[in-house]
Amino acid sequence: MVLSAIAFFSSVLYCTTVLAAPNQISYGLKPNDRFFATSDGKPFFWQADTAWLLYQNLNLTEAKTYIDDRATKGFTVILTAALFQEGLKTPNRQGDLPFINQDFSKPNEPYWQHVDTVIEYAWQKQVRIALVPAWGNLIHTNDNLPGPVNQSNAFDFGQWIGKRYPGLPKMLVGDTNPYWMNKTAVKANYALGGAYPAQKVTDFSDVYEAQAAGLVSGEGKGAMITIHCTNQWFEGGPLALASSFFGHRSWLTFDTSQSGHSDFPPNPPIPWWNARRGYEPVEIMYKVHQKRPILDNEPHYEGRYNNAKQGNAYWNASNVRIGSYQAVFSGASGVTYGSDNVWQMYIPGLSEPTGSGPTRSWAEDISLPGSSQIQYVKKVILDRKSYFTRVPAQEIIIGDNGSGEEHVTATIDGAGGFILVFTPISVPFTISTTSLRSRRPKASWYNPLNGEYMVFALDGSLKSTETFTPPTAPDHSDWVLVLEG
Ligand SMILES: *[C@@H]1O[C@H](CO)[C@@H](O)[C@H](O)[C@H]1NC(C)=O
Ligand SMILES: *[C@@H]1O[C@H](CO)[C@@H](O)[C@H](O)[C@H]1NC(C)=O
Ligand SMILES: *[C@@H]1O[C@H](CO)[C@@H](O)[C@H](O)[C@H]1NC(C)=O
Ligand SMILES: *[C@@H]1O[C@H](CO)[C@@H](O)[C@H](O)[C@H]1NC(C)=O
Ligand SMILES: *[C@@H]1O[C@H](CO)[C@@H](O)[C@H](O)[C@H]1NC(C)=O
Repeated sequence: MVLSAIAFFSSVLYCTTVLAAPNQISYGLKPNDRFFATSDGKPFFWQADTAWLLYQNLNLTEAKTYIDDRATKGFTVILTAALFQEGLKTPNRQGDLPFINQDFSKPNEPYWQHVDTVIEYAWQKQVRIALVPAWGNLIHTNDNLPGPVNQSNAFDFGQWIGKRYPGLPKMLVGDTNPYWMNKTAVKANYALGGAYPAQKVTDFSDVYEAQAAGLVSGEGKGAMITIHCTNQWFEGGPLALASSFFGHRSWLTFDTSQSGHSDFPPNPPIPWWNARRGYEPVEIMYKVHQKRPILDNEPHYEGRYNNAKQGNAYWNASNVRIGSYQAVFSGASGVTYGSDNVWQMYIPGLSEPTGSGPTRSWAEDISLPGSSQIQYVKKVILDRKSYFTRVPAQEIIIGDNGSGEEHVTATIDGAGGFILVFTPISVPFTISTTSLRSRRPKASWYNPLNGEYMVFALDGSLKSTETFTPPTAPDHSDWVLVLEG
């Protein structure tokens, strides 16, 4: 009795310290509704790494090693799942299950105290954790059977999470969709002959609505919530964007896409996002809403095979850089990075390899080159004198702007302070410069591999239309043109 009273008391104390959101990296939607800001109005550039299984597979020592690495590389957010896939029945690395008897109304304190400790450690390193309260397959299975989170407990569980973890962005849905059908059957039927199978579509929106209402009730005003969609499994439904499902809800405070890991059409041929054209859903989200930050929440992960199939090439740092600059220049409020062995915290011997990428431990793959290079996307944006007036500006590119990994993207300061143009292919391009205030701007080429600027002299004052020829380098062909001043 005495022991449990002490445990309860100390956990309450503990929560109080954990949960006070540090001002320096909290969010607001002002002064520009498109971008994240700190509570004192400074830019907050979302540079996220993906670590869905952080609490499940790593012990505290390992989690600290991981967070230290990400903090050093300038990550500002880490995406995690409080409960993942089989996590309800499979104890975490410490041997703890999240609930007693899988009952969502009976949280198992040791499991959640480990989550608290990891979150608190990340905060000390200026890294904010984003939380998926329960992965999508806990709401419904692939086969479309209802999961353990349902109408009866979704509100209460959401409220509990909201109270315990205020100030952390929350992501519902977790790699499924609110509208679902029997995916196993759809795939099987397609393999048999390609006929589009008739399957019942089930709408699980009400469970997510209840979860969101619970979060808002537990956390109060200012809760930051989105959903993390995957591609649809049928034709004619909403596009796979957070706003397509819940765009009318005030709780949906930021919009996301998942451009995913495949550059060829899925089976069956359903509406899908191409991993090499992640800027397309970003452009759509930018047009649909005026007031929400936008993110590609799951672009192709470094070290993951195209379509997660062995035998295909795996996505490399170059693919990751190209997709990231294109998304941000097309209007995204930040970037999401992922590495195939790191999101799952793969430890040889502890779990079966998924085969979705070359088999290496998370501890090795935290050093993949893209994880360092991704910080230079943030740098080229934060180095500018203005942040909140930035807008996408494809219209300044004159002539063909290319497609996929040849797509040239432009973003400008709407107040005339700068022009940034990203080229993945290092061939000359022509732009209109009339948006720029200065006719004698400082001009440079920014190197996405190391964040360094190579200043060059303009030939006299800037003409209204100018052609620029990017430098050539042996190890990359992507560059950012910077005109400023
Ligand atoms: C975590 O696991 C590592 C092995 O990767 C081990 O060396 C370390 O002692 C463990 N730490 C804790 C706190 O259990
Ligand atoms: C939700 O799940 C619980 C446990 O399986 C069950 O008792 C309850 O009836 C379900 N509620 C709904 C609305 O399906
Ligand atoms: C889903 O489809 C598979 C394959 O056709 C089938 O075995 C399974 O029973 C289906 N599940 C449901 C819930 O209908
Ligand atoms: C990365 O992959 C692309 C194909 O998607 C390939 O053209 C390029 O050479 C690769 N880059 C490196 C550095 O391996
Ligand atoms: C430039 O790119 C956008 C998409 O980013 C496209 O809609 C537009 O047609 C392109 N313009 C030209 C001239 O290629």
